[in-house]
Formats: sequence, C-alpha cells, structure tokens
Amino acid sequence: MNDSVSTLINWAPRLAAEADIGELEALIPLSARGLQTAHYSPEQINAALGPVFGVDRRLIRDGTYFVVEQEGRIVGCGGWSRRQSLYGGDQGAAEPNDALDPARDTARIRAFFVHPKWARRGIGRAIMRECEAAIAKSGFSKVEIVATLSGEPLYASFGYVVVERFEIRLTGGLSLPAVRMGKEVG
Ligand SMILES: CC(C)(COP(=O)(O)OP(=O)(O)OC[C@H]1O[C@@H](n2cnc3c(N)ncnc32)[C@H](O)[C@@H]1OP(=O)(O)O)[C@@H](O)C(=O)NCCC(=O)NCCS
Repeated sequence: MNDSVSTLINWAPRLAAEADIGELEALIPLSARGLQTAHYSPEQINAALGPVFGVDRRLIRDGTYFVVEQEGRIVGCGGWSRRQSLYGGDQGAAEPNDALDPARDTARIRAFFVHPKWARRGIGRAIMRECEAAIAKSGFSKVEIVATLSGEPLYASFGYVVVERFEIRLTGGLSLPAVRMGKEVG
C-alpha cells in the first residue's frame, strides 16, 4: 500500500479487551523503541518500559482504552482515564487510583502507542477523537496529559498546551524528560 492510499484509511478504534493484553505488551516496546529514538536514549526507553510505558489494566476494565487493528493485528492503542494516575503500567501506577470527579477534576489522556510501521497514518488522531468524545460525554471539561516528547506534537495538534516540562525519575540514575499538557473540552 502506498502512502497516499494508507493515509485515507478510516481507522475505527474499538474498545480494548483483556484478551488484547498480550498483543499490547508486545506493541508497546516496539513503538517506544521505534518512535522515541529522536528524544530518548535506548537506556532511558528500557528503564521507562514497565514503570512509565506499559499496559494499565484498569483502563481496559473501565472501558476507556482503545485499539486500532490492521489485518487482525493491533497496530495502535491509547485511551483516557477517570482515575488519578497520569502514566504508568500496572506495576508503576504513579498515584493512587481514586476516581476523579468530572465536575472538579481533569480527565487524563493515557498510553498512546502506534506500531512504527503504521506511524503518521492518522491512528493516533483517530484514537484521540474517540477519547475526547468519551471524555466530553462523561462530563469532564478539562483534560490533562503527561506526554513524552514524542507524543507532544500529536497532542499539540489537538490544541493541548504545555503546562510544565519536568523529568520523570527512572531507575539507574536515569530520568525521562516529559511534558504536562492541558486543554478545556466540551
Ligand atoms: C505519538 C504517537 C502515538 C502518534 O501516533 P500517530 O498515529 O503516528 O499520529 P497521527 O498520524 O495520528 O498524527 C496526527 C498528527 O499529530 C502530529 N504528529 C504526530 N506524529 C508526529 C511527528 N512524529 N512529528 C510531528 N508531528 C507529529 C501531526 O500534526 C499529525 O498530523 P499530520 O500527520 O497530518 O501532520 C506515535 O508517534 C507513538 O506511538 N510514539 C511512541 C510512543 C509515545 O511516545 N507515545 C506517546 C505517549 S504520551
């Protein structure tokens, strides 16, 4: 398939299921190692895989995590959350997972990963649209993201603005530059 055809694909994200977890666990490192090298070293990526980049089963159980498939294989994933955690897989939850109050709190955008072979074809955009629609439907009016530097252009293209740049501490004395972004929706 050439680029002009593939960019016309009308991606249709579906909700992730527990049965997808194995495929997601394989996709996330492929995505990070393939698409983050302009911003992070292999050592930073390795240290972030798990604690920062990983599957958060709570999102799948909440029905707030989406996947995109191509020929039966998952080629992209991402979601939103009505819980405290801003990033991290199951083992690395950054904060307790209390439910947020849509009237007062910010919803979260979480864990977007696209297969390197399918990058820049609109998959991230398609999942973002699903997330923003679901967030607005749930009554939130503010959204927050702790983004990688690789993710920043996608979120900026949706109108998210930089709130703060900071470093996520990793094992081995390493750290991961990250950016907190925000937007009002609805
Ligand atoms: C961030 C990521 C999910 C984007 O997914 P994607 O499917 O490639 O993004 P899309 O094709 O939907 O891009 C939509 C828009 O975002 C912006 N964008 C996305 N990737 C970009 C890049 N590498 N450089 C510049 N702009 C980019 C562009 O405005 C793009 O629109 P355009 O292609 O019409 O110019 C993907 O690069 C990825 O998986 N990165 C590695 C994992 C990661 O860091 N995830 C973010 C966690 S917070």
